[in-house]
Amino acid sequence: MANPSLLILPGDGIGPEVMEEVKRVIAWFGDKRSLAFDVSEDLVGGAAYDAHGTPLHDDTMARALQADAVLLGAVGGPKYDDLDFSVKPERGLLRLRKEMDLFSNLRPAQCFDALADFSSLKKDLVAGLDIMIVRELTSGVYFGEPRGIFEEGNERVGINTQRYTESEIDRVARSAFELARRRSNKVCSMEKANVMESGILWREVVQKVHDEDYPDVELSHMYADNGAMQLVRAPKQFDVILTDNLFGDILSDCAAMLTGSLGMLPSASLGAPAANGRPKALYEPVHGSAPDITGQAKANPIACILSFAMALRYSFDQGDEAARLEAAIETVLANGARTADLMGEEGGTPISTTEMGDEILKALDASL
Ligand code: NAD
Ligand code: IPM
Ligand code: MN
Repeated sequence: MANPSLLILPGDGIGPEVMEEVKRVIAWFGDKRSLAFDVSEDLVGGAAYDAHGTPLHDDTMARALQADAVLLGAVGGPKYDDLDFSVKPERGLLRLRKEMDLFSNLRPAQCFDALADFSSLKKDLVAGLDIMIVRELTSGVYFGEPRGIFEEGNERVGINTQRYTESEIDRVARSAFELARRRSNKVCSMEKANVMESGILWREVVQKVHDEDYPDVELSHMYADNGAMQLVRAPKQFDVILTDNLFGDILSDCAAMLTGSLGMLPSASLGAPAANGRPKALYEPVHGSAPDITGQAKANPIACILSFAMALRYSFDQGDEAARLEAAIETVLANGARTADLMGEEGGTPISTTEMGDEILKALDASL
């Protein structure tokens, strides 16, 4: 049987830097665990714009639709800030999500023991933290019409539309309930039903899906602003958080800091199963292209490496190998390896992106 295919899109800024380390990890699994992938690489974001004048070439889109999984670094950067909106690097990523129909974005926030001291919250609030944010990814205000900047009288008006259909809410709610059953069986759904009709519909549909098909799962609803506050007040009250595209974007950056650094947070964006039974899937760190540290060998590659671990688990049915990789990262952190983003007040000498990759490969070797 042919090896599963992996399309790698390193993107911009620190994207290619962290992806170098992921490529070494992928090669390790091929060499040492007989887990070979057909890896190919292409451009996305500003890198694609520079080469083709578009942030995602149609050929790349077609390859992404064919691949068993896509691994993406990050897109964007100040060089592209003044581009027309339609060709901004971020549009490439949004097109991938939309055309692959990746409606369920899993953003786990897990606090590694070795980093509990490093969180901006008190250690006992975050030690052992294990939250899964399920963010709707193909609809909402990111894609709703009408949108644009229009003339209105003697001034301009910027318009975006928050829009959700029942079926869009239904399918992402199901993915959250399914996930909760494999975890602590608890879902908290966040919207603003107090001020938004889309929030009222969201709450109704989530409740209906729950009552009809997942009555065994504990469900609560929370206004998203309160949710943001609760996330920093007492984050361990949550297991699965289900929310829309925009609230999920914001809440997941917030959850990232609970774990110590944005450089630690992976994500999986999943769609419906393809013909071969695998879900359409794209894996990427939650962080962006980090222009402030690009080219300085400072980027933490762990979020991107953990995204590959999620690919092993969700696309390739290799939960044990994913756990091996996660454990290797835990060991490395417990041994004190720290990139600059993980240095606390007490200081110390940070290691480089490549050195962090070296440490993780050593820990993987030791796991055999
Ligand atoms: P960012 O996530 O790139 O950076 C925020 C802060 O976190 C910066 O100080 C950065 O140095 C730090 N950081 C992020 N990742 C890190 C890592 N792996 N190791 C160490 N430190 C890390 O967010 P931003 O600065 O708001 O955005 C920069 C660009 O990235 C923008 O163009 C934005 O649109 C884009 N972006 C892309 C994605 C994506 O590709 N998925 C996500 C977020 C932002
Ligand atoms: C993310 C990013 C993206 C988003 C941007 C780059 C399109 O912030 O993946 O969290 O807003 O979804
Ligand atoms: Mn974001």
